[in-house]
Amino acid sequence: MFARIQSDIQCILDRDPAARSRWEVLTCYPGLHALVLHRFAHGCWGWGLRWLGRFVSNLSRWLTGIEIHPAARIGERVFFDHAMGVVVGETAVIGDGCTIYQGVTLGGTSLYKGTKRHPTLGCDVVVGAGAKVLGGFTVGDGARIGSNAVVTKPVPAGATAVGNPARIILADAQADSQREAAAQRMGFSAYGVTASDDPISVALRGLIDTCARQEQKIAQLCLAVEQLSTGHKPDHLPLASPPTTVSETEKLNRLIE
Ligand SMILES: CC(C)(COP(=O)(O)OP(=O)(O)OC[C@H]1O[C@@H](n2cnc3c(N)ncnc32)[C@H](O)[C@@H]1OP(=O)(O)O)[C@@H](O)C(=O)NCCC(=O)NCCS
Repeated sequence: MFARIQSDIQCILDRDPAARSRWEVLTCYPGLHALVLHRFAHGCWGWGLRWLGRFVSNLSRWLTGIEIHPAARIGERVFFDHAMGVVVGETAVIGDGCTIYQGVTLGGTSLYKGTKRHPTLGCDVVVGAGAKVLGGFTVGDGARIGSNAVVTKPVPAGATAVGNPARIILADAQADSQREAAAQRMGFSAYGVTASDDPISVALRGLIDTCARQEQKIAQLCLAVEQLSTGHKPDHLPLASPPTTVSETEKLNRLIE
């Protein structure tokens, strides 16, 4: 038991730059107190002492501001940072090494007893302040949930989910870097490329890039017509890149960021 508390303290020292000493962590971190009390409550629950489990869980809630159902399963090196207002439901599972900030709810959306109603967090998941993860699905290892996100669907391992309703950003780093490289080749959408897959932003950026390309072509045609009218015969269309077009594109892209 002491080895486990020591590892809890060490993980807080590793992850919270504000933590200065073991003593401070042991005495001033409600997340740690909630974990220790939860282990006792979970033990009671497992031994069939259901009321005692609930009572200890409720006591812990009074003392720490964190409500963890005694049946919830919590792995090693889990860190509830600040932690006030955290709610962890009955069938929730929190994997090793997760970090959970204040105001997080690992909640359910169905009222059927005996079913898996609350989420399972894989290992090393980070759940940002105020995020709500609702339902009996899995958040994969190493995923990150942005602060205030409302997540109602599974999140793949390593992905980042933000917003309400949550959408995945940076889910596929390879695809993102390919898109970025393609955009840079095109010469416009260094500004337009984003990891976001919000469909409205994607559509708007596509339109802005198309407009910019058309404007560039028109500028090239104007230049060619001008050169023809002055008697100069171009053997190819000059590769004009009017700076105004690029800066307009940049401005429009910034507007939708
Ligand atoms: C989600 C998170 C992990 C992403 O971090 P990151 O990988 O550094 O991501 P970035 O800051 O580069 O942002 C990537 C995009 O997601 C958006 N984004 C980031 N966090 C967001 C959030 N919580 N809600 C909505 N959008 C968010 C950014 O605006 C950006 O959008 P863009 O590409 O259109 O510009 C981080 O922003 C977060 O919310 N961490 C939780 C921290 C926390 O709760 N701290 C509490 C301390 S007390």
